[in-house]
Amino acid sequence: MPATPSAPTGTHQDLQFHQADPAQQQAELAAGLQATPASVSPKFFYDRLGSHLFDAITELPEYYPTRTEAAIFGQWLPDMAARLPARAVWIDLGAGSCAKAARLFGTVRPAAYLPVDISAAYLSQALEPLRREHPDLPMLGIGQDFSVQWALPAPAVHWLERLGLRGAPRCVFYPGSSIGNFGPDEALRLLRDAHAVCRQGGAGSGLLIGVDRVKAPEVLEPAYDDALGVTAAFNRNLLLHVNRQLGSDFDPAAWDHVAFYNRIESRIEMHLSARSPQTVSWPGGSRRFAAGERIHTEHSYKWEPAAFADLLQRAGFATPLHWTDARGWFSVFWAPA
Ligand code: AVJ
Repeated sequence: MPATPSAPTGTHQDLQFHQADPAQQQAELAAGLQATPASVSPKFFYDRLGSHLFDAITELPEYYPTRTEAAIFGQWLPDMAARLPARAVWIDLGAGSCAKAARLFGTVRPAAYLPVDISAAYLSQALEPLRREHPDLPMLGIGQDFSVQWALPAPAVHWLERLGLRGAPRCVFYPGSSIGNFGPDEALRLLRDAHAVCRQGGAGSGLLIGVDRVKAPEVLEPAYDDALGVTAAFNRNLLLHVNRQLGSDFDPAAWDHVAFYNRIESRIEMHLSARSPQTVSWPGGSRRFAAGERIHTEHSYKWEPAAFADLLQRAGFATPLHWTDARGWFSVFWAPA
């Protein structure tokens, strides 16, 4: 991926390293749709409407991860802050609105804040009010796709150097069980990259990560197939996004939302299932779907704490600290580098 930062806009020089290339996205979508079984990457959930639908999911009674993680931070934050390095550089992976990290600032007192998200434009917007609230906290938004490979870009390292923070401890923050979208091998790759970023910082660096746990399918499945149908709308909206990206003619009403827990793989799987036989066309291609044929849209892996601690150690981290909720539904780990 070419590291060509675009010209900074606005007053703050946030960095954009990744611009989705439309032709490449179309090729990726067409290949996924023509494969058997067909699939579309979960990154296509998050157009504007999809991001709003995800926010709505986090408010659903059945979707426990967001509020359970928030409760763990609410209960244990003082304990965590005592064990985390002070005056650290916080690197927030998939920061989005930056809201989760911002809630910790008062307690953990970062020296600098580096949110990383696929869209620097979105980050710049999110950082505006945050910069007003924390005028003394240096912040730099980084628009970067860390899903295939991740390192802190050189201009960000130079920015830290200019602030005298090159040797400061680093906290990589990866909440929300977003790691669950990766299978075990890809998760290990991302954790190894995070470990390398931590090791380039000072003593005391580490990873603070939220992970959803294995639990009864009676709890897991409704969280991904809620009574109001918000998750179904979130899943189907991916087809509208694909129509815009690829020029395809998916009818979202012709697809059923399917979500189930796969015990063998320890993951929720989401699919879209064709209600009737149909042909979907786009410039340069088409695909015939039989009734009941599926498009895979997401995996959400669930971890046993011991297995995740093992994964962290295989990625190079020391024995992690672990916090959980009273029901043992969600885990937060601090893994020293
Ligand atoms: C954003 C990947 C953590 O897997 O729970 C929520 C996405 N998909 N409902 C998750 C999601 C359906 C979510 N992550």
